[in-house]
Amino acid sequence: MSETPPEIADIMRVSSHREVYEPCDDSFALVDALLTDQTNLINHKPNICMEIGCGSGYVITSLILLLKSKLSNIHYLATDTNPLAAKVTTETLEAHGLKADVICTDIASCLETRLAGLVDVMVVNPPYVPTPEYEVGMEGIASSWAGGENGRSVIDRMLPVVDRLLSEKGWFYLVTLSCNYPSEICLMMRKRGFAWRILVQRSTEEENLIILKFWRDGEEVERLEEETISDEFSRSLSLFMRKQ
Ligand SMILES: C[S@@+](CC[C@H](N)C(=O)[O-])C[C@H]1O[C@@H](n2cnc3c(N)ncnc32)[C@H](O)[C@@H]1O
Repeated sequence: MSETPPEIADIMRVSSHREVYEPCDDSFALVDALLTDQTNLINHKPNICMEIGCGSGYVITSLILLLKSKLSNIHYLATDTNPLAAKVTTETLEAHGLKADVICTDIASCLETRLAGLVDVMVVNPPYVPTPEYEVGMEGIASSWAGGENGRSVIDRMLPVVDRLLSEKGWFYLVTLSCNYPSEICLMMRKRGFAWRILVQRSTEEENLIILKFWRDGEEVERLEEETISDEFSRSLSLFMRKQ
C-alpha cells in the first residue's frame, strides 16, 4: 500500500510579487529539514511556531501543513521587514485555506516582550549572502539576500532574539551557507546553552547550504574554545556528507 506523501505548500498556490523572495533551493532545503524532523516535531507538541523572514510564505505554510493533520491548536506567527512579503505570505496562506499572524516588523520587534520564552519552534531562512554592509536592510527584494560581512549581519542580530523568544523546549531551524562560518554560529549558540545538529547539507552550483537545528541542552558552558566547535563542526559535516 502506498503511503500518502507528506503535505507541504503547493508551489502553484504560492503567491508572488517581483519585490518578494521566491521559494528557491534554500527554502526547499529548509522545508526538507522540517520534513526530516516531522515525526520529532509532532511528538514535540509545540504550542507556538514562528518564522522570521517569511518572504512568500512557502516555509510557514509548509510547516503548518506538516503539523496540521496530527496537531491542532498551534498558534503560528510569521514576520518580515518587507510589507509586500507580509501581504504575499497572507495570500499564500489563504490559498491553502490556512491562517497565521503575519507581522511586518524587524526580526521580532514589538513581539519580544509578549512572546519571550514562549516559542516552541522557530524557523529562519535569513538574508545570508555576503554583501557590502550598506546593502543590508535596503527596501524590497535586496533585503532578502543582503547579509553584510560574511553574510552574518542579520543572522548575528537574530540569534539573541531567538534565544529570548524560545521556550525551554524550543527548537530553532536555521539556513546557513558555508561562507557564513556556521561553526561560529554554533559556538555563539553553544555559549547560550544550545546544542546543535546538521539536518540537511546541499551543494548547488552557487552555494553550499547547511540547515542547522538548535535546542537547549541544559549544559552550563563556562568556557568554549573556538577550535573545539570548529573541529566538531567539520567532523559532523564530513560524517553527514559521507552518509548522504
Ligand atoms: C532568503 S529570504 C527567505 C524567504 C522565505 N522564508 C523562504 O525561505 O523562501 C529572507 C527573508 O527575510 C526577510 N528579512 C530580511 N531582513 C529581515 C529582518 N531584519 N527582519 C525580518 N525579516 C527580514 C526578507 O525580506 C526576506 O523575505
